Amino acid sequence: MISRTLCIVKPDAVARGVAGQIIARFERAGFKLLAVKLLHMTYEQAAGFYVVHKERPFYKSLCLFMSQGPCIVMVLEGDAVIAGLRELMGATDPAKAAPGTIRRDFATSIESNAVHGSDSPESAAFEIPYFFSALEICSR
Ligand code: RTP
Ligand code: MG
Repeated sequence: MISRTLCIVKPDAVARGVAGQIIARFERAGFKLLAVKLLHMTYEQAAGFYVVHKERPFYKSLCLFMSQGPCIVMVLEGDAVIAGLRELMGATDPAKAAPGTIRRDFATSIESNAVHGSDSPESAAFEIPYFFSALEICSR
């Protein structure tokens, strides 16, 4: 089923100059880019995005990391794109990520792990409009 997901090339990957290589993998997988923007989130904006993790011990550090520099947020579309992107990304901890995955190849720690992808249709429904209005999503 054709669906949409919210993807972020995180500040660590943008700073290290590997965003293009990561986005190339999405294109190679056949995902269609419907919207994209470069933005430097404030701490509060990162906190709102990751509010689901607000009780987790890593929340404050995660929000500091996500607001330390610009990231690239995008909407991707494709057949089973939510699961497909998560597969391309690999496990949260790059040490546990399978060979050939983005996190295995580009992440440097469990926190600085290069990419984000919505983990369910419900998450995508919250995350896509967090960054993009309907007018900013090219659906034709
Ligand atoms: P994401 O939401 O960014 O796609 O990552 P995920 O689903 O693989 O992992 P999740 O559990 O949702 O965690 C969100 C992000 O928080 C950071 N994290 N740090 N220090 C830690 O133990 C820890 N655990 C998670 C990572 O940046 C992770 O991607
Ligand atoms: Mg997650």
